[in-house]
Amino acid sequence: MRSVVEIVPTHVVREGGGFKVRRPFNMGKVLSPFLLIDEMGPVDYGPGEAVGAPWHPHRGFETVTYLLDGRMRHEDSEGNTGELNPGDVQWMTAGRGIIHCEEPHDEFFKTGGKTHGFQIWVNLPAANKMMEPRYQEVPESESPTIQLDGVWARVIAGECLGESSNIDTVIPITLIHVKMEKGTKLVQKIESDLNGMIYVFDGGILIENKMSVRTRPLPFGLGTRQAIQNGELAILSEGEEITIQCTSRSEFLILAGPELNEPVERYGPFVMNTREEIHQAFSDFQNGRFAS
Ligand code: CO
Repeated sequence: MRSVVEIVPTHVVREGGGFKVRRPFNMGKVLSPFLLIDEMGPVDYGPGEAVGAPWHPHRGFETVTYLLDGRMRHEDSEGNTGELNPGDVQWMTAGRGIIHCEEPHDEFFKTGGKTHGFQIWVNLPAANKMMEPRYQEVPESESPTIQLDGVWARVIAGECLGESSNIDTVIPITLIHVKMEKGTKLVQKIESDLNGMIYVFDGGILIENKMSVRTRPLPFGLGTRQAIQNGELAILSEGEEITIQCTSRSEFLILAGPELNEPVERYGPFVMNTREEIHQAFSDFQNGRFAS
């Protein structure tokens, strides 16, 4: 049974062209293999106000964009173009290098409206950092979802309630969007060799803590259940499954992935293992060796 070992609060920062994101503190130290968990918005834009992230490069990891509200368009140096609408997932493996832009869709820019979603950075192992870029897109209509006893889940990566994702990941990743009604319960398996965490972005949840009296004292001294509130990232202990209960209507992400146990050198849009590799990334980008 996994319990909560740490709760990381979030703060609001501005990214890209100035869009507002809610981000856990100390993202540099957050659990492998996740490098960044940004909740974009929610923000209500007036006509002509919506902002995005103009052309910029990435190397050495994957960017996952999941939209809940709004409309974005994207374009990259590999020739992928398209738009993201609510419920759509874009899983972009930057690998050896990609240059892309993530902007509000033209129509959305004109009308304005609510934007809400996530951008998550997933690290790549050293052996895969320079892989060919790869692009996967799952529209809302093809996205695996399940609804059972007041629990709704979209399986972006991994498995939940018997439903599997249709995204191919380089390392084993779990990424699930869950909505739970008040008074419901979910038991989620998270393979014991993966790091696990939960990010709550609406309502609040309780995580059962079944440590026996012989194990070490509970981290928060609060008995058998730990509350996680809106805007908190809960880091989970080792174990095989987690039991989540809801006292109010709640919404959260379950994330899991392996400990890479490799040095992380990050500078802006590049995440490598050594400083030399970061210098190389800048030099390759400046010399036009990113676009194919
Ligand atoms: Co980007």
